[in-house]
Amino acid sequence: MKTPSMTRRDFVRMSAGAVAAGAAVKATLLEPPMLAAETLTGGRKIRFASIGTGIRGCDLLRSARQVSTGECVGIADLYDMHQKAGLEACGREVPTTRDYRRFLDDKTIDAVIVATADHLHRHIVLDAVAAGKDVYCEKPMSHTVEAGFEMVAAVQAGKRILEVGSNRVSNILYRKAAEIYASGRLGEVYYAEAHMDRDGPSGAGVYPVPPGLTPETVNWKEFLRDAPPHEFDPVRFVRWRLYRDYGEGLAGDLFVHLLSGFMGVSGINAPPLRAYSTGGNVRYKDDREFPDVLSTLYDYPGGLTYGIHCNMVTASQEPLIFSGEEANLTIMGNTLTITPADTRPQPERYGLNGWTEALRRQYTEAWFAAHTVAPPKITEAEVYETPRGYDDTADHLANFFRAIETREHVVEDEVFGNHAAIACHMANYSYFNRAIATWDAATKTIKG
Ligand SMILES: NC(=O)c1ccc[n+]([C@@H]2O[C@H](COP(=O)([O-])OP(=O)(O)OC[C@H]3O[C@@H](n4cnc5c(N)ncnc54)[C@H](O)[C@@H]3O)[C@@H](O)[C@H]2O)c1
Repeated sequence: MKTPSMTRRDFVRMSAGAVAAGAAVKATLLEPPMLAAETLTGGRKIRFASIGTGIRGCDLLRSARQVSTGECVGIADLYDMHQKAGLEACGREVPTTRDYRRFLDDKTIDAVIVATADHLHRHIVLDAVAAGKDVYCEKPMSHTVEAGFEMVAAVQAGKRILEVGSNRVSNILYRKAAEIYASGRLGEVYYAEAHMDRDGPSGAGVYPVPPGLTPETVNWKEFLRDAPPHEFDPVRFVRWRLYRDYGEGLAGDLFVHLLSGFMGVSGINAPPLRAYSTGGNVRYKDDREFPDVLSTLYDYPGGLTYGIHCNMVTASQEPLIFSGEEANLTIMGNTLTITPADTRPQPERYGLNGWTEALRRQYTEAWFAAHTVAPPKITEAEVYETPRGYDDTADHLANFFRAIETREHVVEDEVFGNHAAIACHMANYSYFNRAIATWDAATKTIKG
């Protein structure tokens, strides 16, 4: 039966145009939630100390200056120059120390930010929680699977708030994507993929050693803590993410953001069932202990496959794509795009390429005579953008400060952070063991 409202010409125009290049587009500029400008009861400000004020710790302090509900009241870093950099980023004079425990003993301090190398997260989070502090812990939450579960148990037993620092979970674009995903408008989502690729030394973790970095200006023993003993090495201190004793390479550095973003949008809050990685050292022939190209395929509960690719050879536009039966959802930079799929029945075309024109016409006319072709469900592509200069880290910190007052859940709590970190560990496990990594929920271990 033919649809009276749609001619064949309409159909062809819709298929080729409306859903692809010439599609109508509805563009929306998202409104920032103004979390950063909100107030707490009685104008209260959350008093926090920053532990670790290197690259990320300084960035966090700069973002925190935009958030009215928190104030930095102390800086702890075991490297003297980073204490000074932290003070500059904080923008005001606060006490500084090499020993973060001094702030844990201070009952006037509500919370700490932990932005140290990954192997130290566990120690500092456990100490902070034992001292009754709420914690903003940088990603990846854990350096090992066991450490992650230890932190979860301590945070929950102590009824503390812990927010993990993959800030894109608070990003308004990701929250919009999560809303669209949850509405079911994408239809059945069967595959997701993400890339994050870098082409310079910054992306590859080849950071310069600052002048004056010596055993006198750093507490190296405290940096190692329970990592294997090693003589003082300024390169290991600055480029710790390249060594297995302290970091997790691409998985802990970049995958974790893609995993957290994926989990935030899809609502999946669980470790993957399986992970398979491949990759290698293509460009950087230094003494790094991780690959500079890493691809991992994850199987998530519910049948969703997620493919991640990161490399340090050629930069990419860093997309996160969810492929749905009804529409694709793509986040790239500050833009979220919903591209409708044309799911209506249509005559097979490719197989007709070898037919005569007369036969093609006959087949196509017969097909249209026999089928009902309803208008597509979604004809309009949707584009959402964040305003210029939007800082999702400020929103993430504001979410943390608010939760400290309300005791409500943060958007990226210890369970979420642990699940994202487990996926990072599974990627590395698979890569180093050349095996499919399987999550064993009963023993909370990776097998393979
Ligand atoms: N969310 C993000 O976008 C993002 C970006 C970069 C880094 N990170 C994470 O932030 C953390 C820090 O990374 P970074 O690049 O800033 O590293 P970094 O080496 O530049 O800074 C870490 C700082 O921690 C200090 N430190 C180590 N142990 C300490 C201790 N016991 N007490 C006090 N200070 C201590 C070091 O002296 C150093 O100054 C890591 O977990 C990393 O994965 C997150």
